[in-house]
Formats: sequence, structure tokens, C-alpha cells
Amino acid sequence: MAPPLKHLLAIEGMYPPQIGALLDLAESFVLLNRTGTAPRNRLRGRTLINLFFEDSTRTRTSFELAGKRLGADVINMSVATSSVNKGETLLDTASTLNAMNCDLLVIRHAASGAPALLARKVEAAVINAGDGTHEHPTQALLDALTIRRHLGGLQGLTVAICGDVLHSRVARSNIFLLSAMGSQVRVVGPPTLIPPEAERLGVKVFHDMASGLAGVDVVMMLRLQQERMARSLVPSAREYFRFWGLDEAKLKHAAPHALVMHPGPMNRGVEIASSVADDPVRSVIREQVEMGVAVRMAVLETLARSGTNS
Ligand code: NCD
Repeated sequence: MAPPLKHLLAIEGMYPPQIGALLDLAESFVLLNRTGTAPRNRLRGRTLINLFFEDSTRTRTSFELAGKRLGADVINMSVATSSVNKGETLLDTASTLNAMNCDLLVIRHAASGAPALLARKVEAAVINAGDGTHEHPTQALLDALTIRRHLGGLQGLTVAICGDVLHSRVARSNIFLLSAMGSQVRVVGPPTLIPPEAERLGVKVFHDMASGLAGVDVVMMLRLQQERMARSLVPSAREYFRFWGLDEAKLKHAAPHALVMHPGPMNRGVEIASSVADDPVRSVIREQVEMGVAVRMAVLETLARSGTNS
């Protein structure tokens, strides 16, 4: 049996049954959320701290909502106003948080590995909400839940992850999760935006959209992360869209039932055309946001439970 999860720091290294159990629990929360009957007593008396060192809209609010739906006391520590800006180190922050007896700590940080470092220093269960270019495990879980609900499972599917793979923690977590669950993963993008280690991660690399999307079940677009680029790795946004932006013509290469996904925030007209992003049949981008709340509820409850048993 897979060991109980103490923290959620990365998808890499997780066992398929642990992933499957989180997705099943999240699935049960989808219905409860839709009917407004989520169990508000599950995390009663527990404290959740959201510690975001990088900008976020959907991830932070999604964790906040997930915690509140299960009855936790939720505190958002805004780094812009915290003593981190006065030079406090991450480890000083950790000891402050320890003194507050927080149970669940959600952290987003620009440095890869920051959540893992914090996990060694705090008593709380730590959840990685995105660290540098490393991982974003809850995003991969919510993507998997969305795919599973539409296509019935993950085993045997072909998923194309397209665009700025190099800077994308979303891509890395998805590669680990989808491969562990039996999907074939392709990465599609210009050579400057595909990490050199891509093939070692067991994915197929494509440098043009027509062959990369041929027959795939899922097209997952990524944001062009210009804020992480030290130098210009792409020509103009217009050129980028011409070659790599998902529009109706390029989408025709995918299977007729293929889903269109994007983790958000979207650069419309850069990596995706509005007509595709808003296509009510092909695009599941809004649903990804809904699944995000259910997945985060499942993660919070699972970690709170294993914290009690240990
Ligand atoms: C992603 C992130 O922050 O890694 N966004 C998100 O969490 N929904 C992707 C991105 O910023 O492009």
C-alpha cells in the first residue's frame, strides 16, 4: 500500500494509487460543491495559511475557497505587506508559522525547492502551489480530473503539452502525473522553449504543431512566461501566434473529440485564439477552474487526515 501523504510537494515520486485516491475524493467534492452541500465540519478547528510570494489569482482563491468550504480557518498572508519584505528569511518565516500552530501551509514561491525546504522546518502539512519552474502539483491533479471526467480515464490517451514548456511547472507536474497514469505525453514547441531534458522525462518532442497535434486526445496550451525569460527566446507575439498559437486551423490536426485546456492566465492572441479558448464544445478551461476547488479540497482533507493519524 502507498504510504499516507504528509505533504504535497511534487507529483514526481507519487504512486498511481495515491493520485487515483485524490482524484476519486475530488470527484465526490464536485457534486457536493454543485449542490452546495460540502461538509463544513471536516476541517473545523484547523488553520490553513496561504503564503504567496508570487502573484496568483485563481490558485490562491481556489485554496481559500477549498479551505472555507471544509470549515477551516483560512489566513492569506500577503507577502507584499509581510516582514519578508523587511529581509526575514524563509526559515524565520517558518519559525513564526510554527509558533502559530498552523495545520496546513500552502506556499507559492519563485525559487524551485522552497516548499520542500519549508516542509523540513514546519510542523504543518505543506502544499506546493507552484515553485519556480519545478512543479505545481495541484494544477496537474485538477487537469487530470478534468480529462478523466470528459474522456473516462487517463490510460492510453495521448496528450500534447504545447508552447513554453521550458519555464512551466505546470508542464512538469503534468508530465509526471500523466505518464504515471498511463497516458502518452508529447511536448510541442520551438527548440528554444523545450527543456533539453525533455526526452529523459519519457515524452516525445515535436517542433511543429501539425505533427505534434496529429490525432491527440488533449491539447494543453501553456502561457508564454515572458517574466521568466532573461533574454528573448521568441520573435514577436504575432510571429509566435502564427507558428505556435492554437487556432481553429491547427486544432483540426487533433482528434475530433480533443479537449482544449489552459491553466490560465491566458495570453489571448499569443498562445491561444479567443475563438478556441471560448469554444463551448472543445474548451474545458472554465471547468478546469471548477475542478481546482474540488481537487484542493481533496488535498487539504487528505493531508489533514494523515496529520491526525501520525
Ligand atoms: C500557472 C502557474 O502559476 O504556474 N498558473 C496557475 O497556477 N493557474 C501557469 C502560469 O502562470 O502560466
